[in-house]
Amino acid sequence: MIKDEELLNRVDKSKLPRHVAIIMDGNGRWASYRGLLRSAGHSAGVKTLKKILTVAVNLKLEALTVYAFSTENWKRPHAEVDFLLHLFSEYLEKEKREMHEKNVRINFLGRWEEFSTGIQNQIRDATSLMKNNTGVKFSIAANYGGQDEILRAAQKLADDVAKGKISPAQITSELFESALDTCELPPVDLLIRTSGDLRISNFLLWQAAYAELWFTNTTWPEFSPEEFVDALIDFSKRDRRFGGLSS
Ligand code: FPP
Repeated sequence: MIKDEELLNRVDKSKLPRHVAIIMDGNGRWASYRGLLRSAGHSAGVKTLKKILTVAVNLKLEALTVYAFSTENWKRPHAEVDFLLHLFSEYLEKEKREMHEKNVRINFLGRWEEFSTGIQNQIRDATSLMKNNTGVKFSIAANYGGQDEILRAAQKLADDVAKGKISPAQITSELFESALDTCELPPVDLLIRTSGDLRISNFLLWQAAYAELWFTNTTWPEFSPEEFVDALIDFSKRDRRFGGLSS
């Protein structure tokens, strides 16, 4: 293990992505390779998340968004869904103080109002505790789907049109973005997915339109601060053209 400071010094701070999004995949595979229950993989995944958020804080990243629970994850066995929700609740309880001390501003994306009242209250408490913080904008996508988010935004704007508040011509991309769950975040610059699959899985479909993609075979529980920094270094060397020509 190299020292934190040495690790952080590897990155050119002037070329950091503003917004990094992560699909934390491979908890189940990590566990099954070791003959453990899938739940052990999710618990190990929480430890990785803690380490990666610390790097984001130390590097003063503007925004980090992680995919914790998708609208499709309800299809998993009851016991696994229950375990994931329990872990989520435990994570918020255990970590919120430390996050607050680190000036993290937590935010939640998705239809989290469909969770139990207890979890909804935890989400509201954590959001309100950190609402004036000015550090990393840390968003947790919980009961989130990119298509679902776009549909909800379209419904909201259609409702505004029906009520005569706006005209259809006023629906610009800026207005549309203001109706998304991510309205306070910059677009995704770097999208990381662990554990080998090469897909986006309904994550931040609008926001990742011009994101640089970075895939690794490493499972999420094994994903290290060093590899995270490797991804950031790789990003700093990409030629981003946004449909135009090289500058
Ligand atoms: C994907 O692994 C991971 C998830 C569906 C959940 C991600 C959750 C965590 C990292 C821990 C909980 C998060 C918080 C914020 C407390 P998988 O189960 O799909 O793995 P597999 O593809 O190998 O089966």
